[in-house]
Amino acid sequence: MYGQAHRVSGAAGLPEVGKLRVDGRRLQARLEELGEIGSTGDGGCARLALTDEDRTARDLVVTWMRDLGLEVSIDGIGNVVGLRQGSESGPPVLCGSHIDTVATGGIFDGNLGVLAGLEVLETLERAGVSTRRPLAVAFFTDEEGARFAPDMLGSLVYAGGMGVEDAYDLCGIDGARLGDELSRIGYLGAAPCPGEAPYAYVELHIEQGPVLESHGEVIGAVTGVQGISWQEIVFEGQFNHAGTTPMAYRHDACYAAGAVVLAARALAEQLGGDQVATVGRLDLHPDLVNVVAGRALLTVDLRNTDEGALQAAERQMVEEIDRIAAAEGVTAARRSLARFEPVVFDSRVVELVEATAKAQRHRVRRLPSGAGHDAQMLARMCPAGMIFVPSVGGVSHNPAEKTLPEHVEAGANVLLEVLWRLADEELVS
Ligand code: GLV
Ligand code: MN
Ligand code: MN
Repeated sequence: MYGQAHRVSGAAGLPEVGKLRVDGRRLQARLEELGEIGSTGDGGCARLALTDEDRTARDLVVTWMRDLGLEVSIDGIGNVVGLRQGSESGPPVLCGSHIDTVATGGIFDGNLGVLAGLEVLETLERAGVSTRRPLAVAFFTDEEGARFAPDMLGSLVYAGGMGVEDAYDLCGIDGARLGDELSRIGYLGAAPCPGEAPYAYVELHIEQGPVLESHGEVIGAVTGVQGISWQEIVFEGQFNHAGTTPMAYRHDACYAAGAVVLAARALAEQLGGDQVATVGRLDLHPDLVNVVAGRALLTVDLRNTDEGALQAAERQMVEEIDRIAAAEGVTAARRSLARFEPVVFDSRVVELVEATAKAQRHRVRRLPSGAGHDAQMLARMCPAGMIFVPSVGGVSHNPAEKTLPEHVEAGANVLLEVLWRLADEELVS
């Protein structure tokens, strides 16, 4: 804390809601400092969940939270919440996101929501503003799901969508057990799972797509998140000599995997609309130049804003996989890694984000999110919504991921006002 007594906003000499602004340079500096942990040396960041890099990043953010005088709690799945008391007790208005990254990540995805939340609390603290409700900033464990599927794992457990013991038994792509890794890095905490339902949850995030930038808009009022379906497929055929095995004799697991890659693209093109389909992971065995692959593990990521359309895409994909396996004489084992229905955000939060952005004289658009976010899990417990800021070139999960400093600052200022208004509003039934 900075030694100032809390004073209620609007009192003589105090900033009013809508007038106070964050320190954009302080926020940018923290983004860059956090981005150094796991830096890939090309502007990117590799900080897979529950690795040593994740631990170092967690320690840094916790230090910043404590320096600000926040009450820090860590729950049984490693979610960390920093709380600033309000003048009244009750559930906090919560913001946040995640600080794990994919192996080819940038420094903004997730980190922005956490550090902007911290910046909002610091701005209020330095200005001596006390809010009626407590305010809190969280970072949730393993949002990316890149090491331990499913994605949004920490917020899923926080919201009661998965038991913590089931989460401990998840196996990572490197064979590690989640519970062991959580203990090893010292983030298996005592706070209960599921967590307390917040009064509301608002997450600032980069768009990770091209829509805002291409329309010259600065703020997105996010209406919801599309449904996500992740499947893992393992084809087992016969590994054999590449030179001596006639084509008609092959049971080539790599060929089957390649056919799925093409089928996924064709499926998305045929269904059109919002349907997207991605094969992002492919492991071959024995992975040698002169051996027909006997085993292939691959993943299919299907997403759609419409649940019925997503189910139709899943059905067609399964039929294609079975047809491909039969034609090549390989077996196919399928396993669901993640399945989340589309989520619609609270209309009041969406309206508040939109109105606040307009009041701050930004061009704003309502849009759905293509990526998964912790906010979609928090939406199970409380009114939730998101604020997007543009991604340069629509690039993300890539070291070149970038959001302009003025857009980072604009998003944080919208977050400040939205959180403050929610924290001070009369109870809405
Ligand atoms: C998480 O970033 C996802 O949408 O895959
Ligand atoms: Mn993210
Ligand atoms: Mn991500």
